[in-house]
Amino acid sequence: MPTKDRYPITLIALHWLIAILIVTAFALGTIMTDMRISPTKLQYYSYHKWLGVTVLGLVAVRLLARLLSAAPAYPETMGIWQKNAANATHILLYVLMFAVPLSGYFYTSAAGYPVVYLGLFELPTFIAPDPDLKHTLKELHELLTNVMLGVVILHVLAALKHQFVDKDGILRRMMPTK
Ligand code: HEM
Repeated sequence: MPTKDRYPITLIALHWLIAILIVTAFALGTIMTDMRISPTKLQYYSYHKWLGVTVLGLVAVRLLARLLSAAPAYPETMGIWQKNAANATHILLYVLMFAVPLSGYFYTSAAGYPVVYLGLFELPTFIAPDPDLKHTLKELHELLTNVMLGVVILHVLAALKHQFVDKDGILRRMMPTK
């Protein structure tokens, strides 16, 4: 259950787990696309897809948990525009956490490749192979990952400002311990 000044522990755990998975998927995506074709490159593509699909599943759980629980109130010291900016950034992050993996998933389908999750079972394909769409979705996946990078940087900078400049305890709301 949420306490007055912190998020519920489920949301805190999901926040940090998803953050680690996104950073890893982002780094792997950047590294693998620059590699020359090799078995390692193909393996990295699989790992990247598994990480992305895991993010997608966890974000769905997280959104549900977030909708079912109240967020702790912002401190009085935060102005209305700051609260609105924080809320808008958080909504945008949720949208991107769905849009980035979905665009990668649809791109893979349009390229004609199956996604075999953890090498164990094949996930459904929602798009038939299509060279034109494949190209568009690839560009879209790249664009969205770059937008996500920008918004995440903004999000981290805002958290650091609250912690070290405003010293208003906002970061503690998302920390597992006090
Ligand atoms: C949190 C989720 C994800 C993140 C942060 C992410 C990030 C990235 C990044 C940074 C790249 C490199 C883009 C570039 O060329 O600059 C990339 C490429 C790629 N991603 Fe993702 N991705 C995610 C999820 C997925 C998923 C779920 C799939 C498929 C199931 C996927 C499939 C691909 C593929 C196939 C490429 C290579 C594109 C190419 O051939 O150039 N991604 N991703």
